Amino acid sequence: MTTTHLSPEPIRVLAISGSLRAGSHNTAILRAAAELAPAGIEVELYDGLDRIPAYNEDHDGPAAELGVARLRDRIAGADAVLFATPEYNGSVPGQLKNAIDWASRPRGSSALAGKPAAVIGASPGQYGAKWAQADLRRTLGVAGALVLDAELAIDRSHERIGAAGELLDAEMREQLIALLEQLSAHRQRAAVAA
Ligand code: FNR
Repeated sequence: MTTTHLSPEPIRVLAISGSLRAGSHNTAILRAAAELAPAGIEVELYDGLDRIPAYNEDHDGPAAELGVARLRDRIAGADAVLFATPEYNGSVPGQLKNAIDWASRPRGSSALAGKPAAVIGASPGQYGAKWAQADLRRTLGVAGALVLDAELAIDRSHERIGAAGELLDAEMREQLIALLEQLSAHRQRAAVAA
């Protein structure tokens, strides 16, 4: 008798950076997450944030702009979402908050409703975008996402990330891998509970 070992489907994580900057540290960390992801976790970067218009309830609905429909489809099709946010004036950058507002509608049946999510953040300052992360976790919770109770605050990001976006800090790489594993376990628990 032969035994077949079927490996389970990988968990697909959509990675959304809150920065539009070409040299963004937050985007670099998500790119690194895609490379470092352990077996069973696939990380795909979302790169359409700059094509999301300002939220307008009059323009929402089935005819919402293509960029919005794509954002909603990408979130809906992912098993979990990983956000990496910069901090602007002590909170989430407007472009990221705006995208979450689109993804939070229609309320109750939106792409974010019931979606496992985690938040990390980086800044060149000494606090690693902690305030932005806290605000983003709260916003995502209000939008109905299942937010992982974990933080990864990457401070002094300019010292930890090289010019080509490489992660120079081994401890930070380990923390990133651990967070992906936590998000994967969080998603599995959510799937069992559903
Ligand atoms: C910032 N920055 C910043 N940093 C921080 O730690 N706390 C803050 O409140 C702010 N406020 C702020 C406001 C605005 C308008 C800008 C443009 C910048 C600095 C910010 O953390 C820095 O630009 C990061 O490098 C942005 O992240 P990315 O683009 O590297 O991912």
